[in-house]
Amino acid sequence: MKIGIIGAGAMSRAIGKHAVAAGYSVMLSNTRGKSGAESVAQTIGCLAGSAQEAASYGDLVVLAVPLRAYRSLPSTELAGKVVVDLLNYFPHRDGVIGTLQRGEMTTSELLAQQLPGARVVKALNSITVEDLLKDARPAGAAERRAMPVASDDADAKSVVCEFVNKLGFDPVDAGGLAESWRFERFRPVYCVALDQDTMRATLAATSRETTVPDGYWLYNRKVLL
Ligand SMILES: NC(=O)c1ccc[n+]([C@@H]2O[C@H](COP(=O)([O-])OP(=O)(O)OC[C@H]3O[C@@H](n4cnc5c(N)ncnc54)[C@H](OP(=O)(O)O)[C@@H]3O)[C@@H](O)[C@H]2O)c1
Repeated sequence: MKIGIIGAGAMSRAIGKHAVAAGYSVMLSNTRGKSGAESVAQTIGCLAGSAQEAASYGDLVVLAVPLRAYRSLPSTELAGKVVVDLLNYFPHRDGVIGTLQRGEMTTSELLAQQLPGARVVKALNSITVEDLLKDARPAGAAERRAMPVASDDADAKSVVCEFVNKLGFDPVDAGGLAESWRFERFRPVYCVALDQDTMRATLAATSRETTVPDGYWLYNRKVLL
């Protein structure tokens, strides 16, 4: 399976590195076309292209850009693709987006609205890039960290669950896109290392009223694993 990555920053590099190690063919991209992403691609051992080329290339396409870029994604090329959304909403960086600010929709629902035909799956948002690099483990290893995965498309969700597994994490079915607020920022599982059973139980116990302070994960990242 081929993996396209829109973005060539910290998350793109970490995912690209794990994906190449797992045997996937990868193309990443940034705003500056093929030549702009070339040096990052060389360090990972993958291809570089424009955002449109990476979207066309991937059977699975990871969006690893700031949320503020959601309107400039290559929607034509992403139609029909399994699209991994790992975006988190930071109003100071992304600008205030009313529907997100008021909790009327999840970041994934916003993205799905913007990308008609894309098979959007929320995953890989709930881990820091540092942990993504160092916490990956082979299947069955002790202390393997769980990763929530949500989508309205069951087949796309299972493709992404397998991808997450190959990257080194235990996927946990977290329902549809409308449920993905359970692992957005300010929720107890956000960026906290949990095993599969604890992840499932904590997601289920998280209500709209269950919030944690910003940075909670900094002090709780390992306690539950
Ligand atoms: N860092 C983390 O620990 C972490 C963890 C979980 C989730 N996330 C989320 O992952 C996303 C990426 O974070 P990051 O830390 O990797 O950011 P980053 O290091 O700043 O990289 C962002 C990348 O996106 C590219 N980009 C921006 N707009 C684009 C567009 N319209 N088309 C194509 N490429 C575009 C940038 O390219 P240029 O250099 O050309 O501008 C850059 O390569 C964010 O939404 C973040 O909230 C981050």
